[in-house]
Amino acid sequence: MSHAVVTGAAGFLGSHLCDALLARGDRVTGGDNLVTGRRENLEGASSVGARALPGGRELVLPGDSNQLGKLLGGRVMHWIDLAAAITANRHAGHVAVTASIDSLEFLHSIQVGEVVHLVAQVNWVGRTSMEVGVDVYGENMDTGEKRKTSTAFLTFVALNQEGVPVEVPPLLLTSPEDEERFHAAEARRHERLKRRRR
Ligand SMILES: CC(C)(COP(=O)(O)OP(=O)(O)OC[C@H]1O[C@@H](n2cnc3c(N)ncnc32)[C@H](O)[C@@H]1OP(=O)(O)O)[C@@H](O)C(=O)NCCC(=O)NCCS
Repeated sequence: MSHAVVTGAAGFLGSHLCDALLARGDRVTGGDNLVTGRRENLEGASSVGARALPGGRELVLPGDSNQLGKLLGGRVMHWIDLAAAITANRHAGHVAVTASIDSLEFLHSIQVGEVVHLVAQVNWVGRTSMEVGVDVYGENMDTGEKRKTSTAFLTFVALNQEGVPVEVPPLLLTSPEDEERFHAAEARRHERLKRRRR
């Protein structure tokens, strides 16, 4: 059963969005680093529905790249997981663990010297699980061009202190786009659970 609330009512911040600007290593700037537990100011946090990119601040350096100077896919996956975890955690108000990652596509590569932006958003919530969508953008500092390089859908489950799944708040859908995103995510969940049962 979905927990969608399709109104403009105040109260729930539904489509949580985390714009996380990522740098080399495991550091997440502009967000909370769940790995180290360090909390930093959330620069670039956006309100419901907005998907604007935050300003670029950090570069992809050679240590993040392969021999061709392209950002490693594994690094991108790690950052995607972190950005999604922060967003799911925020929505749930609990620790959220990754249950599955699917539909991860690398559309374009990101070069050393470019800036990486991640935009994560809760697309759908169930009882204890959430689907978070993450879009990755590469920014060429010379030209100012930003293009989407990867997109991924992740499922997180909120856990209490005992590690037991707990209910998550409903999602406030404030626009037709929110509703469309919710229903698309619900369809993906259906397929995901079918695959899981096989
Ligand atoms: C994710 C986990 C908590 C689910 O536990 P579980 O015993 O299957 O829990 P439940 O059967 O009660 O399912 C809980 C919710 O997760 C969903 N779920 C569980 N596994 C899923 C999967 N692989 N894909 C999508 N959703 C999944 C269920 O559909 C249910 O959703 P709902 O409450 O919104 O209806 C458990 O499998 C786990 O701890 N996995 C390891 C997580 C981990 O270590 N991740 C990496 C580090 S963060």
